Amino acid sequence: MQKIKLTPRLQMCADFVRQNTAVADIGTDHCFLPAWLVLQKHITRAIAADINPQPLKSAAQTVAQFGLQTQIELRQSNGLESIAPTEVDDIVIAGMGGELIFEILNACPWAKDDRYNFILQPMSKSEVLVRGLYREGYEITAQKTCIDRKKPYTAFLVKYSGNVQEPSPEFCYKTLLNPKANPTDKAFFEQMLRYVANKAKGSKEYVGILGKLRKDF
Ligand SMILES: C[S@@+](CC[C@H](N)C(=O)[O-])C[C@H]1O[C@@H](n2cnc3c(N)ncnc32)[C@H](O)[C@@H]1O
Repeated sequence: MQKIKLTPRLQMCADFVRQNTAVADIGTDHCFLPAWLVLQKHITRAIAADINPQPLKSAAQTVAQFGLQTQIELRQSNGLESIAPTEVDDIVIAGMGGELIFEILNACPWAKDDRYNFILQPMSKSEVLVRGLYREGYEITAQKTCIDRKKPYTAFLVKYSGNVQEPSPEFCYKTLLNPKANPTDKAFFEQMLRYVANKAKGSKEYVGILGKLRKDF
């Protein structure tokens, strides 16, 4: 039987999942992440959720191929809407834009509880996600970066702290990255600098932000 090999981006998310937890993977698509975690015996059960029926069909194929029907439940769900608070410990929302990830989290009435670990992997606009998280009392407790098919990606480990804060614009871009010490952090930060430099072409505010970010580089 063929094995699942996660892409570096999904592996980065998997590496944040706590052992022996129940995991919800929101926007699961092919269900590779939950299937890999169960096959590795890293977790005992998972809910693989997606808003769309077609990805759930792909997910069902993965679950059937590896005989994981007793450990992985597939569920059609808009964000966390159809997940009950007692069903999960670790929640992965990966491969979507930062705005959508924040919308999904913010729409969930039970998410503000420090018993959950959120593993959030934005594909774009990570600064919007970061700003929203801190304004709602969440905190990034760890961050990873990787290179996948020559592109840098990041994932955040997030917990609710109840400490509502207004993060500085620079923090929303730099977050916990350590570009001087870590080559993949450096690659992600360089991508971020190019993004901010582009914004700075039409805005004095962004010129200031870019200057402060470059000092860290
Ligand atoms: C690009 S795929 C990412 C798949 C996988 N999580 C990954 O990181 O490789 C995005 C998935 O999110 C699903 N999705 C989009 N909006 C959603 C929502 N509000 N709730 C649940 N799933 C959603 C899409 O149907 C799609 O399958």
